[in-house]
Amino acid sequence: VRIVESVGEMRAACAAERRAGRRIGFVPTMGYLHEGHLSLFRRAREAADTLAVSIFVNPIQFGPGEDYERYPVDAARDEGLCRGEKVDLLFRPSAREMYAAGHSVYVDEGDLASGLCGAHRPGHFRGVLTVVAKLFHVVEPDVAVFGQKDAQQVRLIEKMVRDLDFAVRIEVAPTVREPDGLAMSSRNAYLSDVERRRAVCLWQALELAKRLYAGGTHDAAVLVARMREHLAQGSPPVRVEYVEAVDWETLKPVTRIERKTLLALAVRLGATRLIDNALLCVADG
Ligand code: PAF
Repeated sequence: VRIVESVGEMRAACAAERRAGRRIGFVPTMGYLHEGHLSLFRRAREAADTLAVSIFVNPIQFGPGEDYERYPVDAARDEGLCRGEKVDLLFRPSAREMYAAGHSVYVDEGDLASGLCGAHRPGHFRGVLTVVAKLFHVVEPDVAVFGQKDAQQVRLIEKMVRDLDFAVRIEVAPTVREPDGLAMSSRNAYLSDVERRRAVCLWQALELAKRLYAGGTHDAAVLVARMREHLAQGSPPVRVEYVEAVDWETLKPVTRIERKTLLALAVRLGATRLIDNALLCVADG
């Protein structure tokens, strides 16, 4: 793995790959890598010739009081995992390298970003889209792979690529789960043992809704109510930020599940914010 810390060197390294006729697969991450990230690397590797990965904890996608300062970091372990996955180019810029003094241009989306996580984390998706746009300009990947776990992020990146004519194909890889169902996330590292055991309630709530849907319950309000009921049982308590059934294309709430629908939830468990989601009615989507 070649580790690159400057925008100029990364741009040159990627250009050299393209000149040599190699297609670039790219996975942007914030590091503290887990099996979920590695599944994205493998997907990108299959889709392209050169595997480029970025590790950058992007300050502008964290709101005031969020976990930017305590976001988990383990550069040595991440580097070892990248070696193990035969990552070709590992881009690890500093915040100063990515955001020069006086940086004032941002990518804002005015529709899909307004609900779900966007409603609870103002400015978050503006930060995500801005950094992803910048990384796409540096790497100019043929394919970029993102995880379904961050479903709203995926939809927004797809929209940005379409609306701003980026020449990259976006691939979405399924959520990777722990054996008990908890979606893998770098933030799971924040959970105490008792919180970790309780955290499985997100997946259980989604599984409950999927079973009800398969059994003929297509009323979104009923599914959401049953999920909330499930989340309310057990301890320590979880504080529900949202549980919603939204249309996959528009991310607007639906009343009946008749088309591809995203069932998404966010909760706070102690000081940790957890999200998860499932798709319903996928065959009709
Ligand atoms: O999903 C993430 O880890 C981040 O939001 C991303 C896409 C790397 C942008 O900072």
